[in-house]
Amino acid sequence: MSTRVVVLGTGGTIAGRAARADDSVGYTAAELGVSALLGGVTVPPDVVLQTSQLAQLDSKDMDIATWVSLHEAVSGLLAENDVSAILITHGTDTLEETGLFLALTLNAHKPVVLTCAMRPATAVSADGPRNLADALSVALCPQAKGVLVVCAGEVHDAASVFKAHPYRLNAFSSGDLGAVAYVEEGNVRAVRPWPVPTSAPLVVPHDADRWPWVEVIHSHAGANGRVVRALMDAGVEGLVVACTGNGTVHHTLQAELELAQSRGIAVFRATRCVGASIVRPAQATWTATSSLSPAKARVELMLRLANRHALHSFTALAVGQAPTLIL
Ligand code: SIN
Repeated sequence: MSTRVVVLGTGGTIAGRAARADDSVGYTAAELGVSALLGGVTVPPDVVLQTSQLAQLDSKDMDIATWVSLHEAVSGLLAENDVSAILITHGTDTLEETGLFLALTLNAHKPVVLTCAMRPATAVSADGPRNLADALSVALCPQAKGVLVVCAGEVHDAASVFKAHPYRLNAFSSGDLGAVAYVEEGNVRAVRPWPVPTSAPLVVPHDADRWPWVEVIHSHAGANGRVVRALMDAGVEGLVVACTGNGTVHHTLQAELELAQSRGIAVFRATRCVGASIVRPAQATWTATSSLSPAKARVELMLRLANRHALHSFTALAVGQAPTLIL
């Protein structure tokens, strides 16, 4: 019996095209159709690979409407008995946000594998074909399930991964946790407990205009609390603060954030320290902290506000830590 694997294309550098083959930065993302990307991938005889162009965008422009259609498409495919895995080609820039969105909202009892490239498809040594081949190896691995990210021979859990470099081929990291597995000549070698357990899926609001408005603000030298006041007055529903160091906030922001919270705006702390979690002091009287990057924390906060519950389990999925909400 054959196995069906569906590849959903969303654009990105993996589908990018440059005027010259030696140019890996001056290109336009999201130009080639997803079926054109599969030429370099060897497909086992018992596997049927199908493609569908779900979107065609540079992932810096990813939007909620595209996430909603991606969620619908993947949920539908997961429910089809003869589909054994779903691959998604995606730009690297917001891949970590899409990955977390899917991880929080799907019951991914089969592999959902996101892959990407750092060089356009026209580059001399394009990395897209290798990444796609590796993603297929992961998709066909009997152990695999859940939402995963495959890039440069590394397999990351979607909850912990983030983009760590703007140019190198191994642009992704899971910080202290590390990759869950490596792909070596088509073999998948797990290096930490895998699959990673996930919590019950959150509901996706289907009307993109009804998603809660959540912004990320940065605490930095010379910060000014007026930014919080302006957002509050404009109707923001949630704020993720990209904090200095171990969750600290500039004193000018602190008072405004406390006011925001007293007005019912959800305020969460994430750290500007890449790939690390805040270690909350025992005496802290803070709002919730997130072990996610600020951009990913924003995704989770939007979903949890939309679901109007479960704020208490924020971040638990990311690093298997106890939740740290204190409201
Ligand atoms: C994008 O994110 O779509 C462009 C950059 C990339 O894929 O590396």
